[in-house]
Amino acid sequence: MSISHGIRRAGVIGAGQMGLGIAFVSAVHAKVPVLLHDRSSAQIKSGLSFFDKLLAKDVSKGKLTSEAAKEARDRVAVVDDLKGFKDADLVVEAVSENLAVKQGIFRTLSAELSPKTILATNTSSISITKIAASTIPEGKTAADPEGKESASRVVGLHFFNPVPVMKLVELIAAAQTSEETLNRARAYASACGKEVTYSKDVPGFVANGLLMPFINEAILMLEKGIATREDIDKTLKLGMNHPMGPLQLADFIGLDTCLAIQQTIHNGTGDSKYRPSVLLERMVDAQWYGKKSGKGFYDYP
Ligand code: CAA
Repeated sequence: MSISHGIRRAGVIGAGQMGLGIAFVSAVHAKVPVLLHDRSSAQIKSGLSFFDKLLAKDVSKGKLTSEAAKEARDRVAVVDDLKGFKDADLVVEAVSENLAVKQGIFRTLSAELSPKTILATNTSSISITKIAASTIPEGKTAADPEGKESASRVVGLHFFNPVPVMKLVELIAAAQTSEETLNRARAYASACGKEVTYSKDVPGFVANGLLMPFINEAILMLEKGIATREDIDKTLKLGMNHPMGPLQLADFIGLDTCLAIQQTIHNGTGDSKYRPSVLLERMVDAQWYGKKSGKGFYDYP
């Protein structure tokens, strides 16, 4: 028996590449009204203009009618602060990979929103259990009914970039997540047009537990001068049919994001295969974040 997600209105925090994509699939595929928040109004502006471009491209390719595109666009509204999500049944947080920032957001969401609102995080590697614990109301404990209820509606919904294209969502339960939250979050990701896989709450989950050592190994090979960046990428593209080589993919994900994920997994596991390379650290020190900053392993004029 399929479970209804029961989400009448969704919220998305962060209008960067991930948040915008989540808002897009929510409005276009799940067809629910979407509230979008970003602390930067410039980010909202550029995000919404990209949203319009994606809709126009889908209309020109015959994937959407112009009426359906207009309806999808009309479903999206901007909210100025986290209180603006009070009518949402599910809020997905998609801000940078920083535990303290995410905990601050979840603390505010739990104080401002009904305990029935599902709180999802798009984190790529951070413990969902730690994020869930930050929603326990002040003065309550994890054992109090209010503490249990609040943490039980937190879940991991890990989308992949570019969200409108990549077919996967990783679903992750915190130690505190209720069965109902998990089932509704799974149903929501399906309504967004995604296949859902499940991972335990371990650092990096399945996707980045596999992907990050692979990317790091490519960076180490470049650092050691074993091959050029082009030949490393070409090896995986032409030899293994990957759509992008690992260095190109790292630029695409964002080198700051790759570093943050590797640090979280390395700190969480102590396993040296997740230790970031010095080259990656130095590139992030130089603010060469990959495609989004115009420079990474490649240049993006
Ligand atoms: N947003 C939305 N759509 C995009 C896009 C973007 N940023 N970039 C490309 N697309 C769309 C294009 O519009 C095009 O759509 P249509 O089929 O409707 O025309 C489609 O993707 C293919 O694009 P292109 O023809 O321009 O280019 P391509 O064939 O080279 O594909 C790609 C581009 C889809 C990005 C492909 O290179 C690819 O699949 N790369 C690997 C991406 C990947 O591995 N993503 C996961 C990263 S890991 C992650 O996100 C999670 C994490 O925790 C780190």
